Amino acid sequence: MPGMAGGADKPERPGAEQWLPEPGHRDVATLREAATGCRGCELWEPATQVVFSAGATGGRLALVGEQPGDQEDRRGVPFVGPAGRLLQAAVEEAGIAREDVYVTNAVKHFRFTQQAPGNRRIHATPEAAHVTACRPWLAAELAAVDPEVVVVLGATAGRALLGPSFRVTKERGHVIERETSRGTKRFVATLHPSAVLRTPPEQRDAARDGLVADLRVAAAALGPR
Ligand code: URA
Ligand code: SF4
Repeated sequence: MPGMAGGADKPERPGAEQWLPEPGHRDVATLREAATGCRGCELWEPATQVVFSAGATGGRLALVGEQPGDQEDRRGVPFVGPAGRLLQAAVEEAGIAREDVYVTNAVKHFRFTQQAPGNRRIHATPEAAHVTACRPWLAAELAAVDPEVVVVLGATAGRALLGPSFRVTKERGHVIERETSRGTKRFVATLHPSAVLRTPPEQRDAARDGLVADLRVAAAALGPR
């Protein structure tokens, strides 16, 4: 593909595992620091910086998106662009307290295409191989945060967390229980906020309402404080 970032014939993808800190030293702050050096796949090279996570490292609810976008890549913080603003508003509307929320992405570097230097960078969906390469970070941070409920935002997060055959459109909006390294966890899948933004204007409010309704399911799945 012309202009595909990291479009070498055979990209190096050893996966992130070798960049993780030693077990026992995998708190979120240490993971975040270690991720700055990750070369687990080729996406690090054209990106500005790694975008690790934000929010409450002891949060009861984790929101997992796809990958940082253009603005997130520039600022080094997830969900600060248009999709992030929509998500933040939807989270509030669903009655989820900010101090309960940890936000992260399945892939930690921005994948994009660019026709020429200086041109607009256009989002490119990460491949299954990028998701696989980056998954050690996601697994380690979720083990560290140990949230009660994980909200899966869209297909890429679904693939990372619930496997390649998971279909968000079919399985959104209800609690899915899965065994994890930290015991049985609850997952709730929903639309990605970017998908809401891409919905034609006449259906966009309905799509946004659907996202809020699914977030309410996640909120209800949290135990009492
Ligand atoms: N979309 C995502 O999935 N994550 C971000 O951080 C921003 C936009
Ligand atoms: Fe490492 Fe993930 Fe970035 Fe690839 S996308 S270099 S695996 S942090």
